[in-house]
Amino acid sequence: MATERVLRMKGGVGETSYTKNSLLQRKVMMKLKTIFEENVKQMMSNITSESCWRVADLGCSSGPNAFMFVSNILNIMDNASLSLNRVPLQIYLNDLFGNDFNTIFKLIPEFYQSIHQEKGDNFGSCFIHATPGNFYGRLFPDNYIHFFHSSYSLHWLSQAPKTWSNIAEPLNKGNVYITSTSPPSVYEAYLKQFNKDFNLFLTSRSEELISGGIMVLTFIGREKTKKFNNPAEVIGMVLNDMVQEGLVEEEKLDFFDLPLYGPTAEEVRQVIEAEGSFTIGTLKTMKIGWDANLEEDVDDSILDSKMRGEFTAKSMRAVLEPILSVEFGKDIMDELFLRFAKLVAQLIDELETLEYTNVVVSVTKDP
Ligand SMILES: C[S@@+](CC[C@H](N)C(=O)[O-])C[C@H]1O[C@@H](n2cnc3c(N)ncnc32)[C@H](O)[C@@H]1O
Repeated sequence: MATERVLRMKGGVGETSYTKNSLLQRKVMMKLKTIFEENVKQMMSNITSESCWRVADLGCSSGPNAFMFVSNILNIMDNASLSLNRVPLQIYLNDLFGNDFNTIFKLIPEFYQSIHQEKGDNFGSCFIHATPGNFYGRLFPDNYIHFFHSSYSLHWLSQAPKTWSNIAEPLNKGNVYITSTSPPSVYEAYLKQFNKDFNLFLTSRSEELISGGIMVLTFIGREKTKKFNNPAEVIGMVLNDMVQEGLVEEEKLDFFDLPLYGPTAEEVRQVIEAEGSFTIGTLKTMKIGWDANLEEDVDDSILDSKMRGEFTAKSMRAVLEPILSVEFGKDIMDELFLRFAKLVAQLIDELETLEYTNVVVSVTKDP
């Protein structure tokens, strides 16, 4: 099934919402702030004499993280040029059609008020727009955007990979994602889908980006030799246990795969070079614990493995519950994430660290 029809983060502002459980994603943006800042400044020096700056965040979701992008870019551009009072800034927040944009809209008045308080009434115009749509395809007119940003969104594929044989057999029996024991055919099918999707993303953005414009993209990535790259592997283990106990239908698990792929840095490089519209600036990896879901000022060394498992479960539930409940039903979600928290705690006891390897890349549109 196409991802755009089923994927959404948990909306609203409740205890299990993305709004309340996206601290990990915020920390990733904070850790990469220097790269982001350097690239925004670089874009401003590449492109001069514009009457309006247009920037877009792709896959903004519905919580405060969307405003983190807005306030970061606003501050950087304001400090760099001191001219926003003459050159307006238009900020486009994009996500899929089912995204909870209403939660964002309700936060806008408070946000405008805070910038006016911070920067005074002389501060120039900043207009926030929503752009619902699929980033695997066109979102903006030709030569329109100066700067694209996307964080923790591009590892979502447009659809789960399919088996390439004609027989209706499961591609990835008993799992929902690639694991360290998956046969090569599973990895190849995922990579093939990623290459196709990311290439379409790049060709679409190359039409929309002005020459000299820049994109900064952060993916959850993968290391080929690591045992556990993504909590989705553990979700598959839990679902398998639930199949053994008769709580989940075996066939449902066998035929369901998450539309998710963590590329290596090299795989990202290869697609960008083959597409040919961009020059790579930065290409790096950066690690963060699966459980990095605590406020910055709280000392996380006090956490035991049980608590770490629970933090990981909260963060994953806000992301995966909507898509998993379409397939497996709402009723098993409490049990699934309870078991997931316990299994992650057990794995932390055995392995000590469970980390995401993130890939960050910046690219400039060639003339
Ligand atoms: C984990 S959230 C990240 C949100 C935000 N950037 C952050 O860092 O907190 C990933 C978002 O990407 C969006 N997304 C995934 N595939 C997409 C697509 N093809 N087009 C637009 N948005 C997409 C999802 O709907 C989701 O809201």
